[in-house]
Amino acid sequence: GHVYLSRQLTPAAMAAANDLGVPLVVHDDPDRPPSREQLLSGVTGASALITLLTDRVDGEVLDAAGADLKIVANVAVGYDNIDVAAARSRGVAVSNTPGVLDEASADCAFALLLATARRIVEADRFLRTGKDWIWGPQSFVGLDVSGGATLGIVGLGRIGMAVARRAAAFDMRILATGSRASSEEAAAYGVEPVGLQRLLAESDVVSLHCPLTPDTHHLIDAEKLAAMKPTAVLVNTARGSVVDEAALVAALQNGVIAAAGLDVYENEPQLHPGLRSLENVVLLPHIASAGRATREAMGALAVDNVRAVLAGEGPRTPVPETAHSARPGKEL
Ligand code: GLV
Ligand code: GLV
Repeated sequence: GHVYLSRQLTPAAMAAANDLGVPLVVHDDPDRPPSREQLLSGVTGASALITLLTDRVDGEVLDAAGADLKIVANVAVGYDNIDVAAARSRGVAVSNTPGVLDEASADCAFALLLATARRIVEADRFLRTGKDWIWGPQSFVGLDVSGGATLGIVGLGRIGMAVARRAAAFDMRILATGSRASSEEAAAYGVEPVGLQRLLAESDVVSLHCPLTPDTHHLIDAEKLAAMKPTAVLVNTARGSVVDEAALVAALQNGVIAAAGLDVYENEPQLHPGLRSLENVVLLPHIASAGRATREAMGALAVDNVRAVLAGEGPRTPVPETAHSARPGKEL
């Protein structure tokens, strides 16, 4: 069967895909994901799917592909858009793109951290209004980041570690949850492993780096937001549904926390209607991995996974053995 690509990738990744020696079927709109109908018909008879986080790959899609299907290669480190259990039960491998986007994602998380803490985007917006302004000792005063602010990293994995390295260079105090929080590498950056409650209570900035799983869905809800400092900033470059977005909007409106920097949303591409009218949020359209070389590497790694599996080998970067299945019925 063919290799189905749900979107045009970067040029080098497309060249690699064309080199697979298997017919490619590429969804023809470079700007929009396939509709459900287009996806179900595009995958029919495919040996491999190269998918994006905008595609929901569930049992129905796997069945539409049929018995030839050997791998679903997601061009993302997250794979909550794929029903991994459904793939496993059909003998279909699932791969993601870990390792190649850590630095780009950490750069973006840190950009959101600085932008929210120091009110960069709000100040830019103010200047663009053309209103009179004059320097003032109390104008746009925000959180001091370097030399004393506490960063709480929720879910210290590869990306969280890259954030910790940046935070260490800014002389931040670093708290973290997650299995790697107690590692030697974490200790080398001064990371203190803590439980979530202590992290929330003591952090000036809370940055989320856990995958979306049934266990982390709405991990940050109204109660957890209330446990944060009223001066605290929340940064989310993980997945929108790790946060209860309605509760976050209420917390930002009511001064429960000070600000948020968001790259991801619960119902992408929709935003909670309250978000756009808040001054104390910085909103990005899910661009954390959008570095040029990073996007090439992500596409190339997905293609490599397909190449390996079509050659009868295991995928190069399979999702973990312990991978959860997608939340049943959750629409993207
Ligand atoms: C992006 O969100 C990714 O999971 O790679
Ligand atoms: C809002 O735009 C902020 O930078 O806090």
